Amino acid sequence: SEAEKSGYPHFMLKEIYEQPRAVMETLYGALNDQLIPEAVKLLIDAGKIYVTGAGTSFHAAEHFSITGTKLAGKPIISFISSEYDTYLPATSEGDVLIVVSQSGETMDSLKALRAFKRRGARIISVSNVIDSAIPRESHITLYTRAGPEIGVAATKTFTTQTTLLTYLAVRLGEAVGRLDVGEGKEILGNIGSAGSLVKEALESAEKLAKKLATAISRSSSAYYLSRGVGVPVAKEGALKIKEVAYVHAESYPAGESKHGPIALVENSFPVVFVIPNDSYLEALLLGNIEEMKARGAYVVGVGPEGSRTMELLNEFIPVPKAHWALTPVTHTVPLQLLAYYAAVEKGFDPDKPRNLAKTVTVE
Ligand code: G6P
Repeated sequence: SEAEKSGYPHFMLKEIYEQPRAVMETLYGALNDQLIPEAVKLLIDAGKIYVTGAGTSFHAAEHFSITGTKLAGKPIISFISSEYDTYLPATSEGDVLIVVSQSGETMDSLKALRAFKRRGARIISVSNVIDSAIPRESHITLYTRAGPEIGVAATKTFTTQTTLLTYLAVRLGEAVGRLDVGEGKEILGNIGSAGSLVKEALESAEKLAKKLATAISRSSSAYYLSRGVGVPVAKEGALKIKEVAYVHAESYPAGESKHGPIALVENSFPVVFVIPNDSYLEALLLGNIEEMKARGAYVVGVGPEGSRTMELLNEFIPVPKAHWALTPVTHTVPLQLLAYYAAVEKGFDPDKPRNLAKTVTVE
């Protein structure tokens, strides 16, 4: 109903604005959750670690695979839940599968869970709905506290999932002794202020997102590019604009441009770059931005305040500086707003995209 939207024109926008509170509540939950040390113990003892999900939850899974692998030095394999069959023969007793699902009811993810469990894997789930099917069948469930999400396109569930999973990756890194004490403290400090980081990103992006939405909504297709920890965030940005504004968007690691996709780039083709706060990735992306610009692309960047990429870009949305592991917290919001305003601009209802369901309980 209108009342439930508390003055916002759509649930999607309301839920985008609820993120500062949602990430903090999720963090408070995690800090007091005795199951986190238990989950860390399972991960330390694990033979192999897998992480899975569908749609937006798969992007959160990929984020955990990247941060966990880098911070804890343990390879973590991510896969889309409907593709679980590939890894099943390689799975045995003592492996761990992390299943990410906000609803806890997605059939593809539930099937992956059941198949891995039958082979003796331990299951950790990350969900936003207490006692839903996936948590009920898991050994351990870590809950996000986003509150109910009504908009079909996931927003606050993604930033809460990634906040929780970044926290888990840090705890794992500390426990295995791979994470430098100073770096661990820095990330934990940033996670502690995740709410204000999201709020700053919202304030910074609001105006420009509207302007860019007008430009992008005129285009039938766009690329969303990044490297490393920015890749799942870029994929999430592309998914959002496909879901609600029906703009065909493709996301891939920027190094691949020259191996095919750049063939499509001509004057004013929109390319959105996610620039993580990491000088190594930034330097590489600088080259990728140049190669796109040289073909006349309309290049937009979301990156840390004062980024070196700024002067090359047609438009730059600055987000607050934080450790690279927090890229989903700092960089996602501008991409959500971009998709939202593009949908509104084209006259679509972002809360009810055509052909899509909030929760897919069939195969
Ligand atoms: C559906 C929704 C997506 C969501 C995906 C996974 O496709 O439209 O927004 O990301 O399911 O949902 P889950 O509840 O498992 O996170």
